[in-house]
Amino acid sequence: MLAPAVHAQANPALLGDKTAFIDDLMRQMTVDEKIGQLRLVSIGPDMPATKLADEIAAGRVGGTFNSVTRKDNRPLQDGAMRSRLKIPMFFAYDIIHGHRTTFPIGLGLASSWDLDVVATAMRTAAEEAAADGIDMTFAPMVDISRDPRWGRTSEGFGEDPYLVSRIAEVSVRALQGERKPIAADRLMASVKHFALYGAVEGGRDYNVVNMDPQRMYNDYLPPYRAAIDAGAGAVMVALNSINGAPATSNTWLLQDLLRKEWGFKGLTVSDHGAITELVNHGVAQNDNEAARLAMKAGTDMSMADQVYISQLPGLIQSGKVAQQELDNAVREILGAKYDMGLFKDPYLRIGRAADDPANVNAESRLHRADARTVAQQSMVLLENRNAALPLKKGARVALVGPLADSHLDMLGSWSGAGVDKQTVTLRQGLEAAAGKGKIVYARGANITEDKHIVDYLNFLNWDDPEVVQDKRSPQAMIAEAVQAARHADVVVAAVGEARGMSHESSSRTQLTLPDSQLALVLMNGRPLDLNWARENAAAILETWYTGTEGGNAIADILYGDVNPSGKLPITFPRSVGQIPSYYNHSRLGRPFTEGKPGNYTSQYFEEPNGPLYPFGYGLSYTDFSLSGVSMSQATMKADGRVGGAPGEGIEGLPQGAAAAGRAKGSALHHRQQGAQVL
Ligand code: BGC
Repeated sequence: MLAPAVHAQANPALLGDKTAFIDDLMRQMTVDEKIGQLRLVSIGPDMPATKLADEIAAGRVGGTFNSVTRKDNRPLQDGAMRSRLKIPMFFAYDIIHGHRTTFPIGLGLASSWDLDVVATAMRTAAEEAAADGIDMTFAPMVDISRDPRWGRTSEGFGEDPYLVSRIAEVSVRALQGERKPIAADRLMASVKHFALYGAVEGGRDYNVVNMDPQRMYNDYLPPYRAAIDAGAGAVMVALNSINGAPATSNTWLLQDLLRKEWGFKGLTVSDHGAITELVNHGVAQNDNEAARLAMKAGTDMSMADQVYISQLPGLIQSGKVAQQELDNAVREILGAKYDMGLFKDPYLRIGRAADDPANVNAESRLHRADARTVAQQSMVLLENRNAALPLKKGARVALVGPLADSHLDMLGSWSGAGVDKQTVTLRQGLEAAAGKGKIVYARGANITEDKHIVDYLNFLNWDDPEVVQDKRSPQAMIAEAVQAARHADVVVAAVGEARGMSHESSSRTQLTLPDSQLALVLMNGRPLDLNWARENAAAILETWYTGTEGGNAIADILYGDVNPSGKLPITFPRSVGQIPSYYNHSRLGRPFTEGKPGNYTSQYFEEPNGPLYPFGYGLSYTDFSLSGVSMSQATMKADGRVGGAPGEGIEGLPQGAAAAGRAKGSALHHRQQGAQVL
């Protein structure tokens, strides 16, 4: 039976007119019902599903996150339909690089330099999530990162304001679709983390951000702006402070910049627990002051903490928070629900019970073909000496390394509803491509032998640890790998970071591979220090975390069925000491100039300047030779352009650069302007 189309108590005749509809509804709401709308909660040990449904029915919740099936969400929406005004819930989740099907992490998607590839991943994620009854995703994550120590570098799209802005735009359009209200098979995008979260000091998560306006406006703000201009319905406010003022209580950020300067008309959502954290930041004495500051600044909805629901009734009564300020926030939340199509049909994405999938993880719900093609485009060939790659299908391969057969690590960080067992590991991919007999697998090493790191990565779930140690001694594992290598034509080593090492709250001081490994196929979520690998491995393929079809896609590249085409969206420094590392540096009075020691130019004296692998770098299996290159003219005006002779040079990127060509050309254009080597 079709779920009855249930409207809020507001006049259904007004449904076609957003402002009139919301005005009418707001007139009927009590102060408590309004405050209830500001609360975004998650099912958890202190909030079991039945208690949550009761809270919703009492009008004390506006939306939930982390419940990800129609079956879970339906009783919660039923709760809303029992509330006095029947205002629907919305259901949110972190769908960052896929939902049931996992696509490559952000850095991988960006390495494709192909907006169609990004759109495929985002559209598919939206369709799968909407089919699970989800109305909003906390994505895209568009924080610029120039500091690979920061674990969340993996989630974003790299260092370049232009590339990340284009990806932000295309992601929002793919997630939300073009229709308004948003169609049943799409969801609302909540761009994050506003703002500048990628610039936390020292790459330490949750740290302070101090930044001058020029860098802010030129480099770090454009991607958020691009997402908003593309119509993102919501913005997640960052956990960090900006020049001393936490984003959550930052009136300049949330009102002057976001609403007045940029004209944003949607919903702002706090990050997890950020309002109560204003006390830790030292700007509020207690929760009461925290609620007042966040509300006045314009943080509409409070995620996970109970500060609004507990403090706002008193603050409104005493007049410390004006009724108008509360109304502004409520209006945005109702507006978002209207734009999600939930007033017309609260069950728009939840659908009918009769249509629920028997198994939410059914194979038939996955989009494996898309996952494979997207992953193929997301890998970057960093080295390939003596044409070590592609491998011959007849070659005997010794496959070693702790990531070679790890289902979980294929998923990468923030893998949402992805199921580890449904991923194809590199071992499975190679065996499928070349035949089992050709591949001899030996683990060779654990991710690390450092117990402290293993404990850190497993702290979330001791019962089901992410990093499972092989109990054999390091020597025994290496001996097995050496034995495998002896009988092989080639060694493929899959090494890098366990997925938890490139994650929220996983900042690192070292970018080296954990001690126990050598390198060839890399799986990791940040630029790593690859000096040793560069010297010692014949070929290096950066795969990032490739998702559900990763093993097959990597095999496609290794065996040359697909030509690697990814380019780095982020600089790989030579050492931690070079951080921050990025290509678009401001000009200097004394830029680094190669020459005699101590020549008083900007440099470090103990290692070569410039990165190990620059932004935009990436090889393919094709050799190119350029000849007879000439410029179209010898001089140009300040606002002019100089191209190559027709068909040559930067303006004439080979047609093979295909869809990536536009973005690529533009990044090169940036580099031409800032030609100082730093
Ligand atoms: C993260 C956000 C995420 C939220 C909800 C926070 O810890 O910073 O990016 O959206 O949790 O899961």
